[in-house]
Amino acid sequence: MPFSLPDLPYSIDALLPFISAETLALHHGQHHAGYVANLNRLVAGTELAGKALEEVVRVTAGKPDRSAIHQNASQAWNHEFYWRSLAHGGGGMPHGDVATRIAAEFGGHERFAEHFAQAAVSQFGSGWAWLCLRGDRLEIVKTPNEESPLAKGVQPLLTIDVWEHAYYLDYRNRRLEYVHAVIDYLLDWEFANANLARA
Ligand code: FE2
Repeated sequence: MPFSLPDLPYSIDALLPFISAETLALHHGQHHAGYVANLNRLVAGTELAGKALEEVVRVTAGKPDRSAIHQNASQAWNHEFYWRSLAHGGGGMPHGDVATRIAAEFGGHERFAEHFAQAAVSQFGSGWAWLCLRGDRLEIVKTPNEESPLAKGVQPLLTIDVWEHAYYLDYRNRRLEYVHAVIDYLLDWEFANANLARA
C-alpha cells in the first residue's frame, strides 16, 4: 500500500494567530504532500514499498544509494511528527512527567525554552529543532535538512520545523519570532508526554 498524506490533526485555522491557514495549507498540502508523493514514486517496485514509514527512515539512513528515498521518507515522517507537536491552546508550561524531567534536567521551563529556541535559531539554513529522550536523559538537538534523531535510535518528543517554508509567509525572515510563538503558544505537551510514556 502506498504511503499516504495524513490529515492535519486540527483544522486549517486552528493555529491562528501564530501560524496562518495559508502557511498550513501550503506547508501540508504542497510541501508535506510532495515528500509523500516523491517517496511513493521512489519506492515503487522495491522491497521498501509496504514497509512502515519509520522503518524506511531507519533502514535507508547512511546509505548513499538510498539517499533520495531517505530524504523524502524522513521529511514525510518529520512533518507528521511536527503537526502533532503543535496544538491549539498549547505551549507555555509543561505538565506531567515531561515537566518533572524538564525541571530536574534543564533547571526549569525558562531555561528549557531558552535552549530550545537557541537550537532552533542557530540551525544554519533548513532543518529542525528537537526535544528528545536519549537513553534516560532529555536532550535538545538541531538537525540539518531532512535529518531526524529517529534514524539514530533516539526517541523524539517534540519538534519545530525551521525550514523557511514553515514561517516565511507569516514571519518573513524573523525565525526567532516564529520559534518563540511555537514554544509559548503551540507546543503540545500531551504529545510529548505520550512519546515519553512509550519510549
Ligand atoms: Fe516543513
